[in-house]
This record gives sequence, C-alpha cells and structure tokens, in this order.
Amino acid sequence: MHGNESASAYAPAVVKLFGEHAVVYGELSVGAAVDMYAYSHIEKSAAAGPASNFYLYLEDLKIGSQISIAALKELYRQFQLQGFAEFSKKAEGYAFPYLFIASRLVEEHGIDLSGAKATIRSNIPIGKGLASSAACSTAFTVSLLNYSSLRLDDRSIIEIARDGERIAHRNQNAGAIDVSTTYHGGYVSFSKDSGAHQHEMHSNPSLLIIDTGPKKSTAETVGHVSEMYSKEKAKAELIIKEIGKCSHEGLQALKNEDYALAGRYMIEDHKLLDELGVSTPALNAAVQLAVENGAFGAKLSGGGGGGIMIALAPSDKIPSIEEAFKSLGMKTYAKRIAFEGAKSSIGNADNARMNRDKMPI
Ligand code: MEV
Repeated sequence: MHGNESASAYAPAVVKLFGEHAVVYGELSVGAAVDMYAYSHIEKSAAAGPASNFYLYLEDLKIGSQISIAALKELYRQFQLQGFAEFSKKAEGYAFPYLFIASRLVEEHGIDLSGAKATIRSNIPIGKGLASSAACSTAFTVSLLNYSSLRLDDRSIIEIARDGERIAHRNQNAGAIDVSTTYHGGYVSFSKDSGAHQHEMHSNPSLLIIDTGPKKSTAETVGHVSEMYSKEKAKAELIIKEIGKCSHEGLQALKNEDYALAGRYMIEDHKLLDELGVSTPALNAAVQLAVENGAFGAKLSGGGGGGIMIALAPSDKIPSIEEAFKSLGMKTYAKRIAFEGAKSSIGNADNARMNRDKMPI
C-alpha cells in the first residue's frame, strides 16, 4: 500500500495535571497538550540510498539509521514470537521505538516504506517530562499513515504510537496518557477501564511550567515504582488508589472551573508521588515556592526524578511566580493549551504550520 510522495504530521507536548505513574496500574490520569511540537516528515527519497531500505533521521540528535524492508518485517515477527518482555530487553538506541512502530505498520497493515525517508524533529525539550518521546512517536505514526493513505480509527492509531513509548519506558502499560493527549489535543483523561476521552473545557487556566533541572529517565522512575509495587504491594496500591482519587476529583474541579480546589488536588497528588519515590528535594521545594507565590497548586509532571514542575495559578500571579523561579536561575515556560493534537494533522499536509516548528523555542 502506498499513497503519497511525501507527508507530514505534528503532535504537541503534554503535561500531566493528575495521575501519572498511577495510570500504569489502571488508575485515571489527566493530561493537557501544550503548544510545543514534535514534527515528522516522510518522503520518497532516491538520494537516501537503496530503494529496498527505509531511512530514519532524528534531526535533533543527528542520528540517522537505515533498515531493509525485509529486516523491518522480521523485527515485528520477532516481537510476535518473543512477546513484549523478551523483545524489549534487546531494544537499544534512540531509533528503535520508531523502527518498531514502522515494523508493525509494514507487517500488519502492508504499508510500503521502500525508499522512504522519515525525518523527526521537535521543539519540545527532551528528557524533561514534557512527553517529547510520545509526541515524536505519535507524529511519526500519523505521518506514516498520511504517507500511505491508510485510515485507522483513533484507538488503533493510539495503540500503534504507544508501541514507541512501551519500548522507550520498557513497560507494556506505558504511554497511554501521553499518546492519548498528544493525539487528541486539549484536555484528555485516560484509564484502563474508561479509555481515552477528550474533555471540552471552555476556560483556559494559566499554567506555568518550571524546569527544576536534570531528570532521571522515565524508564528508571517507572521501573522504581514497579519494584516498589512488587516489594511493598499493599503500600504502593494504597498510594496509587489515592492518586486515582486526585485525578477524578481534580478533573471534576477543573470542569467546574474551581481552580483553587483543582490546585489542592495537584498538591495532594504531588505528595503521593513523593511517597512513591519519584519526586526530588528540588521538585518539592519548587512546589512550595510556587504555592508561596500565589499558585493554586503545583506538582511534578511526567516521570519525575527531576525535570519539570507545573503550577496552576491565577493569571495575575504568573509574573511573580515566574520571577521567583527566574531569580533562582530556573527556566520557566508560560504555555497555552494546544487544542489541536496529532489527529488534526491526519490527511493534512499543512506545511506552513509545520515550518513554524523549525523555529527554536
Ligand atoms: C510519563 O510521562 C507518565 C508515566 O505515567 C508513564 C506512562 O504512563 O507511560 C510516568
């Protein structure tokens, strides 16, 4: 199956308002897409090399790789034979998640990637907790669908893009909230039982993102929680359930535009994440500083172990909160909610929009 000579797609960054980590154990999580983007472009490229190969270029990391279509098919067969646990142990390198996504589309859906070159780039800071890998995997998946003119339903697209996250975080349950949010855009919730839902919210509260410094990999913090879950199951389960409650109550508070209450659930969620062992002294101090400066609430966002903290605040308090962090030398981003997710780039080669993302942040 082959459709177009070239195709593109974009996908926004994601912050988690509630429920990260607990979502891996079936609980509800709430994400919001924010306006930083990953972008994937694919084209038939005679210049890249043999026509029987597929080429991938990760522009930000300056990593190029190529694989024969036969080897791509073989990769998916290996996964089917070995199962996720065994297969993911051998997954090495930044390109692997994308090649795995491509292998499934080639083997299961018959798309033709011979002689095609995909380029992925992003203005989402990498490894900070802004779901840059989920946005890249989702933009890549949608660009491949656009290239081959393959139409799948939302659920199937999210499942395929999640393969990238499953590999990157070495956990079969990973990627649900990040991929669902970057795919749909706006406010999105996910739980194992209820699936992904985009929530219409008419007001747009002010959200500040603060970079508290270096971050452990999400694979590491997800692994830490999984270890705690196996060693101290009762304790971990209790914390995870409480986080789930914060997600339900916090989402309701957001829908009611009761940001003071939503903020309190964010603070509670952060404390519970600290009990799970995925916060840091810097993140805890940052939450306190944001609240002291007038935020409704604040919490770590994403895998934790460093990286970003998000604060929900009245818009007139944003400048003083930003100032408090800037005076400590921390980078802050006042971002808007991105209401268009990767889904908006299906069947749409909107290059003006894509080119905008060449701009540095
Ligand atoms: C990472 O952004 C969110 C986690 O819940 C892991 C996941 O759901 O894939 C920590």
